[in-house]
Amino acid sequence: MNFVDIHTHVLPGVDDGAASIDETVAMLRMAYDGGTRKIVSTPHMFFDLFKNNDFVEIRDRFDQLTSDLNSYQDQFPFLKAIEIYPGAENYASPEFLEALGQGCVLTLNGSRYLLVEFSPMLPFTQIENIIQRVFPAGYTPVIAHPERYAAIQEDPMRMVRFWEMGCVTQVNADSLLGGWGSRATKCAKALLEEGLVDVIASDGHRVRWRPPVLEGVFRKLESEYAGEDVAAWMVENPQGILANESLEVSYPAKDPTK
Ligand SMILES: [Fe+2]
Repeated sequence: MNFVDIHTHVLPGVDDGAASIDETVAMLRMAYDGGTRKIVSTPHMFFDLFKNNDFVEIRDRFDQLTSDLNSYQDQFPFLKAIEIYPGAENYASPEFLEALGQGCVLTLNGSRYLLVEFSPMLPFTQIENIIQRVFPAGYTPVIAHPERYAAIQEDPMRMVRFWEMGCVTQVNADSLLGGWGSRATKCAKALLEEGLVDVIASDGHRVRWRPPVLEGVFRKLESEYAGEDVAAWMVENPQGILANESLEVSYPAKDPTK
């Protein structure tokens, strides 16, 4: 299966992801070896810590990365077999809302789909208020790792509200493997069981810390869920996002006894 990973921090030197182009190449190698063939660069934007509030600068840095990677292709031929796409992980902050209103945001591969993350302790009503502002701006929110938010851990069925609104839900691979503690794992599994997950992505950051690899979670999921569901989460839905297509939503989950 050729995975499509829509959430990674492979753009070097802009956030807590890859520190250098060499680390980017090493991360892409890990992704490729783990079966990923398309990968989206989603650096943190509008997040206080990293001061990435200018979408033109991030877009230019991405263009520079692709040209640098092209010049590495002779040295690392595998780079010809993995495609990299532009994007951003937008932190729901006042700066984000201001940029949203001006259309100064980076969507996933220029599609309608906008990856948005929230502060882990943000109350549900505030998450809802921000999401309600994304649609009129012309974008479809892709909610990054809801299983890490206290409001969703308290009641995973709150995601039904976002499903009704037309949001896309992206769960992290490492949450399903226990990397974010038992509450996040339990929440991620509950979302999968209810059909409230559209995409599983790595949220890969570094070579030695949260690497951008999907193979491990694939092995686990293929033994527990229907193959067509796993393919939807890891190949078809993320591919549909890159192509700006409407997604086939999975909620409510099919009853396996029928
Ligand atoms: Fe991320």
